[in-house]
Amino acid sequence: MKPGVYHYPQCYEVAFSYRDILAELAVFNTLIDRHSDIPVSNVLELGCGPAPYVEALTQHGYAYTGLDLSQVMLQYARHRTDQRNLNAEFQLGDMLDFQLDKPMDFAFLLLGSLFIRNTSDLISHFDCVARTLRPGGLYLLEQCVAFAPFIERTFTWELSQEGIAVKTTFHVKPLSHVDQTAEETLTLEVSHHNTTKVLQEVWLRRLIFPQEFLMFIANRNDFEFVGWWKNWSLAQPLDNFQANNRSIVLVKRVQNKRGLRAPHGA
Ligand SMILES: C[S@@+](CC[C@H](N)C(=O)[O-])C[C@H]1O[C@@H](n2cnc3c(N)ncnc32)[C@H](O)[C@@H]1O
Repeated sequence: MKPGVYHYPQCYEVAFSYRDILAELAVFNTLIDRHSDIPVSNVLELGCGPAPYVEALTQHGYAYTGLDLSQVMLQYARHRTDQRNLNAEFQLGDMLDFQLDKPMDFAFLLLGSLFIRNTSDLISHFDCVARTLRPGGLYLLEQCVAFAPFIERTFTWELSQEGIAVKTTFHVKPLSHVDQTAEETLTLEVSHHNTTKVLQEVWLRRLIFPQEFLMFIANRNDFEFVGWWKNWSLAQPLDNFQANNRSIVLVKRVQNKRGLRAPHGA
């Protein structure tokens, strides 16, 4: 078995360094200005990994909390924020079953990091976010709704930073149309000085299809759908699938949306 990608935060960061973090921060801020019903002073990143957005967010004035299942990632993220004395804290935890000791004003999850294997995982995740997010607060998810056709696909790209060159391959193999599951494999071929190593993560993902997502949110009493856009561009609402689309989806935590009464005896 190859060593895991999430055990090498620096290599992971090189692989995903194509992002324009300041431009994405501007999108966060615009969405907050337009759609949040509450002022935002703290933000929560689920599956935060090395916390690549923490500098931008804390410099903007937000207090940052990152939650991740990987000790190695959190150690790397903590080192980065301690060195710069940033207003950030981290919690080891599972995004499918977590609780924070304080409510959050805004939550986000990037790069398709919603690691669910089945429908119960999806429900548990949104239950946890609902418990954590203040009513009126927003939850932004990137690449979590499957807008692309459910077919076998491979993406490859190469990037380098500070002498570390990484060739990344992301492979999606549909497993079951009935369960909406796919096996996803992330492989990093890393070259540094004269050494090379291959890192790999393989996981099973339960996909969420677009109309299913709308119905899922519509049927929840604690969230409402706000919008979805292509490639972090608020000028491009999602109409049709485009390759390499970094789609974002926004929902809002609401209180008792339809005024539903608790069932008898509850
Ligand atoms: C693709 S990385 C994203 C990291 C970071 N958010 C970014 O934008 O670069 C996914 C992260 O999710 C974490 N992760 C995977 N399953 C998780 C779970 N069930 N709960 C919390 N974190 C999880 C991994 O450890 C990894 O750090």
